[in-house]
Amino acid sequence: MASHKIAVIPGDGIGPEVVAEGRKVVDAVAGRTGLSIEWEEFPFGADHYLKTGEVLSDSSLGSLSKFKAVYLGAIGDPRVKTGVLERGLLLRMRFGLDMFINYRPVKLYPGVQCPLVGKRPEDIDIICVRENTEDLYIGIGNVFKQAEPKRRVDFSAVFKEKDPEYETRIGMQIERASTTDDLAANVGVVTRKGSRRIIEYAFELAKRRSKKRLTCVTKSNAIEMYRFWDTVFEEVGKAYPGVEQEKNYVDAVTQWFVRTPEHYDVMVLPNMFGDIITDLGAAIQGGMGLAASGNINPAGTSMFEPIHGSAPKYKGQNRVNPIAAISAASLMLGHLGAARESKAIEDAVAAVLAEGKVRTYDLGGQSSTSEVGDAIAVRAAELAGA
Ligand code: IPM
Ligand code: MN
Repeated sequence: MASHKIAVIPGDGIGPEVVAEGRKVVDAVAGRTGLSIEWEEFPFGADHYLKTGEVLSDSSLGSLSKFKAVYLGAIGDPRVKTGVLERGLLLRMRFGLDMFINYRPVKLYPGVQCPLVGKRPEDIDIICVRENTEDLYIGIGNVFKQAEPKRRVDFSAVFKEKDPEYETRIGMQIERASTTDDLAANVGVVTRKGSRRIIEYAFELAKRRSKKRLTCVTKSNAIEMYRFWDTVFEEVGKAYPGVEQEKNYVDAVTQWFVRTPEHYDVMVLPNMFGDIITDLGAAIQGGMGLAASGNINPAGTSMFEPIHGSAPKYKGQNRVNPIAAISAASLMLGHLGAARESKAIEDAVAAVLAEGKVRTYDLGGQSSTSEVGDAIAVRAAELAGA
């Protein structure tokens, strides 16, 4: 009998609540089919960091690397400076375990209201393939030359001298801004290997879809590293004559995603643009409460997570939508080769959404997080047993 060990990081804010529902659904389905799942919980996140000072040590990363799958809730906490956990934990896992594929389906389920007038479920069925290890995310950058103002500039002759508001407030700001040398810079990187492997993956995926269309999204008219990415796309594309190929600029995509999402099938995007476009994707599929993702290293450890954040203000209220986390669990089982269990969960999510009886506030309902989890667990177990 197949057996899988999964590392779980419930994380911060609403993370633990949505992860509990995902586990509940997986356990219900596995119980029905006889799949053996073993969960091992890890405490990483804000509390652990505040208690121990550890965000994610080398040895912890080493422990996670022994698993084929990590199931993550959410990261981020107002008590911790912005970026510490995001970079030290989330991006550290993505980079440190070389999860180079960020797989983000954008699918409108029947029964979910689309914010785009007149669009139906058959119009929104896209897979965004986001590069996950390069671009502006590599972490080379800083704020430099931070120092106190070096010289005074007297603007009193230029600006309204007698205005007390100017003197006390605006004048000080202008003076600070013009007499310090602070600057910030980040280096963005596109490598041949890094772009090639994600583009190849996207072509392989597109080849297996019915529409067989791959859209490459960059900004090569303005930024050199993306022009390089486009040339790699063209090169790789020669090996896929059966896939329709096109290149779009990212600014245009923000427009076409809203006007004609039905045009798109598979999209391949560098890290930064992939981050932005997939939030737009979440919006057109009915909201962040529904959007799931996988951070995949086909030869190593992969991590599955809802794309929403930790939503601290909803923490502990049993109110938020667990579907993004449940769908992430379905992606995870699919990745582990448990196709039947994965499909049962996906179909159960679709069925519960289509019925519209049990749903959280974000979808216009009044059910709690755990009620939605229960409904999907029951339905998924039925479907898995059928
Ligand atoms: C995401 C998130 C992360 C990202 C943040 C939290 C670093 O927005 O997974 O999309 O930018 O990738
Ligand atoms: Mn994001």
